[in-house]
Amino acid sequence: MNKLEPAITLASLHKDVRHDSGPKHVTGTAEYIDDMIEPAGTMHAYLGLSTNAHAEIINIDFSATKAAPGVIGVLTGDDIPGENDVSPSHKHDEPIFASGKVQFWGQPLFAVIAETRDQARRAAHLVKVTYKDLPVSLDVRAAQAAGGALVTEPLKLERGDVAAGMAAAPRRVKGSMAIGGQDHFYLEGQISMAVPGEDEDVTVFASTQHPSEVQLMVAQVLGIRHHAVTVNVRRMGGGFGGKETQSNLFAAVAALAAKKWNRACKLRPDRDDDMTATGKRHDFVVDYDVGYDDTGKIVAVDAVYGARAGFSSDLSGPVTDRALFHADNAYWYPAVRVRSEPLYTNTVSNTAFRGFGGPQGMLAAERWIEDIAYDLGKDPLEIRKANFYGTDTNNVTPYHQTVADNIVHRVVDELETSSDYQARRAAIVKYNAGSPILKKGIALTPVKFGISFTATWYNQAGALVHVYKDGSIHLSHGGTEMGQGLYVKVAQVLADAFGVGLDVIKIMGTSTGKVPNTSATAASSGSDLNGMAAWDAARQIKERLVVHAARLYQCSEASVQWVAGGIQAGDKFVPFAELAASAYLNRVQLSAAGFYQVPKIHWDRATGRGHPFYYFAYGAAVSEVTIDTLSGEYTVDRVDILHDVGRSLNPAIDIGQIEGGFIQGMGWLTTEELVWDDKGQLRTKAPSTYKIPLASDVPPVFNVKLAEWSVNKEPTIGRSKAVGEPPLMLAMSVVEALSMAVASVVDYTIAPRLDTPATPERVLMACERLKGGRQ
Ligand code: MTE
Ligand code: MOS
Repeated sequence: MNKLEPAITLASLHKDVRHDSGPKHVTGTAEYIDDMIEPAGTMHAYLGLSTNAHAEIINIDFSATKAAPGVIGVLTGDDIPGENDVSPSHKHDEPIFASGKVQFWGQPLFAVIAETRDQARRAAHLVKVTYKDLPVSLDVRAAQAAGGALVTEPLKLERGDVAAGMAAAPRRVKGSMAIGGQDHFYLEGQISMAVPGEDEDVTVFASTQHPSEVQLMVAQVLGIRHHAVTVNVRRMGGGFGGKETQSNLFAAVAALAAKKWNRACKLRPDRDDDMTATGKRHDFVVDYDVGYDDTGKIVAVDAVYGARAGFSSDLSGPVTDRALFHADNAYWYPAVRVRSEPLYTNTVSNTAFRGFGGPQGMLAAERWIEDIAYDLGKDPLEIRKANFYGTDTNNVTPYHQTVADNIVHRVVDELETSSDYQARRAAIVKYNAGSPILKKGIALTPVKFGISFTATWYNQAGALVHVYKDGSIHLSHGGTEMGQGLYVKVAQVLADAFGVGLDVIKIMGTSTGKVPNTSATAASSGSDLNGMAAWDAARQIKERLVVHAARLYQCSEASVQWVAGGIQAGDKFVPFAELAASAYLNRVQLSAAGFYQVPKIHWDRATGRGHPFYYFAYGAAVSEVTIDTLSGEYTVDRVDILHDVGRSLNPAIDIGQIEGGFIQGMGWLTTEELVWDDKGQLRTKAPSTYKIPLASDVPPVFNVKLAEWSVNKEPTIGRSKAVGEPPLMLAMSVVEALSMAVASVVDYTIAPRLDTPATPERVLMACERLKGGRQ
């Protein structure tokens, strides 16, 4: 039997199919850019970074650098034939190489090009820069105090009469919550290799979530047209949003050098330079004022979301917008006004990170739920439930979209039962009463996350499918693989469409030459968008094959059926490979470009109204923790999750995304702390000082389940839902559980108001603060 002739049981959609690169990942044979065979004569670049957070550049002395061994040359802003800018926001506020002044500690000033990477790196450190200091503004509060300069236009969402709601509210709580940032800590750091071609051509291998934007940036920097630049991405060793825009600069520098010296050039920073020079999750300070009634129902919310944007706009506009879009989490606010402040600071420009501002918005909502619960002496879960969006009324968001697919009640009720929440909570209250030092806490928090890019035009995708005459298939689409399993999911869609086995499909790396004008693989929309585009390409080829088969086997088109492994033409079964071969001989086109655009969505930022999300993904988590009130140290003992991915395209991959997302969220909220000193230098720029969760931090009891009954109401691919980002926010339950444990030191009479990351130090200080508050 021909190897390409598919087996009888083929259906792979909705099945546990392993990641296409899984065996290669674990055997170290998956190829990343630094593993690629370098073209002869490849040069290596290394960036020179500023050592001042805000200063005029008086002089740069390159003499020692240029004389160092192996150095080919130095690139500065003056060597750029096009524009010295890689800003993704069209504000043109992000130079590749600072000129005139630096705006953050770690800002690239130049690149050294040498024969080896080590030579380039050593030579970069020989440069002498003379600065004249300018005043620095490093964090949210400092930026607000300095006048509140913004990097981009703020957003306001408003619905109902907030002033009247506040005035009429029987109870009121005001507060501030500081929410920390997060480094992406992708295993594979930023890297690019550029290979020059004929004329203006250049091919760039980049570790990027957004090949089309890298193409645009390289073209803009070189002053050439997009068609001269090809960007290829086989896979990333993690992106998490940190390679949505942050890859631009590395690709641009490699391409600049490649074209200038007509030799290939590779650029890979060390981990500490990567952490210093690339943007992170935005830290926020949320100032809130919430009115509510005696039962805990919220009547009005008024809040300002200050975010440390850094020195340039980057994605701070859309990130802070998404924070406001999630200021409600799963709760209905009868009257609401929320405003964003994307603040200019002399720090690295913050960027996308899993959840894209949404997590910060939702965490603040959980904070005021907690405030209300402790004020009323109730279990916060009761307050959560009292404020959930309804399923037919009370379901309009602050951006005036109706929540039409609300399943939060069922998700929460099922999890509350399956996790035995009530009995465990009662047992914990009892335990705490008899345990003076160790205290436990438990919390159940919900997630509702809007799916679609709020930049509406991004909600489109293309695919390119070739069927070869032996029946084997090439699959290309615009999405990128960063470990999340997008490639295998789209291959499953295609295999299912053609009724063939997955072995028939060759998954191609992403290339701007195959599918043009792609969107970033982001906003969790990769499989929604690219799955549909691939399906559309298959549809076109299948339609042609049906016409062909009907003619060849002399039956009606209606009697041609797609079955496992091929087609049934009347009473004749034709294997897919045989069908493809005969189609070729009969001059039938066996290739198609597919396309998809998300229906229904629209958004008017000026009025703050619209239908920005195609649908919502839901989930809930229960976390249980134990804290040591003398040291602040704690453990996360048990986590139960019920998460909604609609009809899962691949449950094994989706469970992996939920587990990984939760743990990454837990790291953000507990141990990952970014510390800048008063000069603006990032002090936590290595795993020795920046604490990501370890395998040993995974809760010993970790029950993760899909809401298997959920089916996307919208006709998405296979009725699935996006899974990439929403599970990160399930980790809010850890903060809330820590909160309960802390509150137990004063018999739950004071809201602990833990800021994040809730490090052991913060937990300890909160215990002490509460004990003091009681006296
Ligand atoms: N999973 C892995 N293993 N690695 C990653 O870099 N990125 C996350 C999420 N899951 C990421 C991941 C982010 S930020 C997003 S937006 C989505 O995957 C993107 O992929 P998708 O749209 O295909 O879900
Ligand atoms: Mo994900 S933050 O949208 O790349």
